Amino acid sequence: MTHKGFENEIGRAVVIGGGSGMGLAIADALLAAGAEVTIVGRSAERLADAVRELGDGKLNAITANVGDEEQVERLFDTIGAVDHVITTAGDTTGTYGPIKDFDFTNGRGFIETKLVGSMLLAKHARITPGGSLTFTSGIAAYRPASGGAMVAAVNAALEGLARALAVELAPTRVNAVSPGWVRTGIWDKMPWDDREDRLRAMAERLPAGRLGAPEDIAQAALSLLRNPFITGTVLHVDGGHRLV
Ligand SMILES: NC(=O)c1ccc[n+]([C@@H]2O[C@H](COP(=O)([O-])OP(=O)(O)OC[C@H]3O[C@@H](n4cnc5c(N)ncnc54)[C@H](OP(=O)(O)O)[C@@H]3O)[C@@H](O)[C@H]2O)c1
Repeated sequence: MTHKGFENEIGRAVVIGGGSGMGLAIADALLAAGAEVTIVGRSAERLADAVRELGDGKLNAITANVGDEEQVERLFDTIGAVDHVITTAGDTTGTYGPIKDFDFTNGRGFIETKLVGSMLLAKHARITPGGSLTFTSGIAAYRPASGGAMVAAVNAALEGLARALAVELAPTRVNAVSPGWVRTGIWDKMPWDDREDRLRAMAERLPAGRLGAPEDIAQAALSLLRNPFITGTVLHVDGGHRLV
C-alpha cells in the first residue's frame, strides 16, 4: 500500500544558523529524515562543534555571514542548487534597549542579519522547483517587551517578507516559523540579572506549561518543508504565548 502525500523526500537543505540552538536541532532533524545538510554560521569553531555533535556523513559546514551579500553569493556558488533553505540566524548583541537611548551603531546588526540576510538568501539561493525558503521570526512581533522594539519590528517585517516572497518566488514556497520563548544560548546574552526567574515565570504562565525546546521548532520547520501546499504562512510554535 502507498501512503499518498506522505512520501516527500527532503533532498538537499541549507540551515543558516545551524551551528547552535534551533538551527542545530533543525539540522539534526533533517539528517534524521535522510537529507543532505549544509550548516552555515560565522564562527568556524561553533560549526566544528556542531559537526562533531551531529556526526553524519551527509553533513557539511561552511562559514559565512548572511548579512554580507558577497559571502551569500559565494555560499550558493559553492553549494549550487538546493531544495530547501532555512535561516535561524540572529544576533541580539546590542538589540535590546529603550528607544530613547537606543544605540543604532550596534543595534542595526539585527536588521542586517535577520531581515537583510533573509532577503539576500531569497536573492542568491538557487532553490529547485517545489522547494522552500523558511525564515524564523518570533513572539516579540506579537507580545513585545519594553526595550524590545528592534526585535519586534524585525520579526514583524520578516513575516511580511515571507508573504511577499511567497507570491514573487512561486513556485518556491516561502514561510516563517514564529517561536515563543525557547531554551537556547541566546538567553545568555539577555541583560537580566534575574534571567532564570523570568524564564520560570514564563513557563508557568504558558498554556503549554513549559518553555519551548529547539526540537519543537525543528519539528515545525520540517512540517513546512514537507507540505507542498503551505506557502506565505507564519507557523506559531509558542506554547500558546500569544493567548496570555
Ligand atoms: N530562543 C528564543 O527564545 C527565541 C524566541 C523567538 C525568536 N527567536 C529567534 O530564533 C532564531 C534562532 O535563535 P536561537 O535561539 O536558536 O539562537 P542561537 O543559538 O544564538 O542561534 C543563532 C545562530 O545564528 C548564527 N548567526 C548569527 N548571526 C549570523 C550571521 N550574521 N550570519 C550567519 N549566521 C549567524 C549564530 O552563529 P554565529 O554566531 O557563529 O554566526 C548561531 O548559530 C533567532 O533569529 C532568534 O531571534 C529565538
